[in-house]
Amino acid sequence: MPAATKPTPKSVLISESCLQKRIRELGTQIAADYENQELVLLGVLRGSVLFFADLSRAIFDAQLETPGREVQIRFEFVQLTSYHNSTQPATVELIRGGSNYLKQRHILIIEDIVDTGQTLDFLYEHLSPLNPKTVKVCTLLDKPSQRRVPVTIDYIGFEVPDAFVVGYGLDYAQQYRNLPYIALLESV
Ligand code: XMP
Ligand code: MG
Repeated sequence: MPAATKPTPKSVLISESCLQKRIRELGTQIAADYENQELVLLGVLRGSVLFFADLSRAIFDAQLETPGREVQIRFEFVQLTSYHNSTQPATVELIRGGSNYLKQRHILIIEDIVDTGQTLDFLYEHLSPLNPKTVKVCTLLDKPSQRRVPVTIDYIGFEVPDAFVVGYGLDYAQQYRNLPYIALLESV
């Protein structure tokens, strides 16, 4: 790609300190909601990895602040891919499924961003034969302007405008995942 058109993440949309503050709040809320229960955090690879890592530690820290409150956390991961075409709904495919451990558990899906809602809709269908006790969703970012499928989201970090965002796990052509903040992708 010529340097003149290469998109680069220029403007910070959500700073590192804002991200971390909100993730601590989400951790406190989740630790309270699942007090004394076992909870499977189900990360959707690859975009959720940084959020997953920080949120899981925030849940642990919240427990330390309230002695007697314990949430037993398990880690599970799925990997999905979607093929987009401007007129048709996306085709979502499972590349890697979770383990049998997901059966009849409390599951909290950890997503980087909910955009059209098609990925989440697919994941619900995938999980339903496992008869989970509960399935809830925690997404770092919500882009409601692009929704095609109605989905329920239980925990939202931030709502974002209708723009392509990168960083903190989210990529453009596999780049920028390791930015510690969320940035808008701009063409230069
Ligand atoms: P939906 O809800 O449309 O989301 O099924 C599918 C996946 O698309 C990715 N996505 C983005 N990735 N910047 C990104 O880097 C974005 O603005 C963006 N919007 C959607 C993301 O992996 C999501 O899980
Ligand atoms: Mg994703």
